[in-house]
Amino acid sequence: MKLRAIAMFVLAIGISSAAQAAGEIIIKFSHVVAPDTPKGQAAERFKQVAEKLTKGKVKVEVYPNSQLYKDREEIEALQSGAVQMLAPSLSKFGPMGAPEFQLFDLPYLFPNQETLHRVMDGDVGKKLFAKLDTKGVTGLTFWDNGFKQMSSNKPMHAAADLKGLKMRIQSSKVLNAQMKALGANPQVMAFSEVYTALQQGVVDGTENPVSNFYTQKMHEVQKHMTISNHGYLGYAVIVNKNFWDGLPADVRTSLTQAMKEATAFERDVAQKDNDDALAQVIAAKSTTVYTLTAAERADWQKVLLPIQKDFESVIGADLILSANATAAQVAKEQADAASKPAASKPAASKTAAPAKK
Ligand code: SIN
Repeated sequence: MKLRAIAMFVLAIGISSAAQAAGEIIIKFSHVVAPDTPKGQAAERFKQVAEKLTKGKVKVEVYPNSQLYKDREEIEALQSGAVQMLAPSLSKFGPMGAPEFQLFDLPYLFPNQETLHRVMDGDVGKKLFAKLDTKGVTGLTFWDNGFKQMSSNKPMHAAADLKGLKMRIQSSKVLNAQMKALGANPQVMAFSEVYTALQQGVVDGTENPVSNFYTQKMHEVQKHMTISNHGYLGYAVIVNKNFWDGLPADVRTSLTQAMKEATAFERDVAQKDNDDALAQVIAAKSTTVYTLTAAERADWQKVLLPIQKDFESVIGADLILSANATAAQVAKEQADAASKPAASKPAASKTAAPAKK
């Protein structure tokens, strides 16, 4: 594994040097997931559109699957300028001094993607990106993955079923509190290490959207998955600030347009990728998939919702209030639309509530 990483690094330096000699601007885009996930596909889409719109002035090199850097290392690499672009999950911004991003980790805060998109694309998203300015990082956009599901080697129906389980989490204090509230024992671990840790029993379970679960082959090493939709996993696409500010204005405009197109594509495919991945997990038959009943979901919510209050001082009560208000507004609009006679209803939104699995 280490040798492979060194080989990739040497290869990356070789490719980049040749391109730099040809006078191109190089964007190294490093990420930790598989190419056939929503993030992996969108990174490739950004590459295609960016290279086309800049007429070859920019070359984008995408390095998936932690080939260059793992979770924490990749953020340091961006800040030092070793790579130019990343899309870390929103749970990974706390350790770089931006704990407000943990808003997106709060269990059961976001009932649907429409609410998420309004929050990300509105004032809350702008406030969050402003926090990055002093850290040598510029935020460009938010990408989806999807709602997270719990997995382990035992059935998890009641919240109490997680008691005593060692659960891998990302480096987020909210996720730590979430697992503790469930009586589990949270273990922070890089994404690239999760499969082996599950296989060797270093941890008993984890949480992820199904697209990550399936593309990392976690279904081979997890007997049970509960469709709990208890939390969300999304991304912020970020660039090195000096690099971005130093680009010729016309190049930056083209890259901004390319990112807009990649974002529309990403948000369009994310839910479908997760639905397809779930079908594949079920077809593989190695993991039993269980969906919480309404009563069980209420039991999980009773345990997890108090975390919102506990984290007001860390995340900001205003941000949590704003997200809750947006959720209520979306619910009202959806109820109004549902009560209208069929002929006057607008076409269904692509970002409606997640499918109840
Ligand atoms: C990712 O989707 O980028 C990784 C998420 C994780 O670390 O669980």
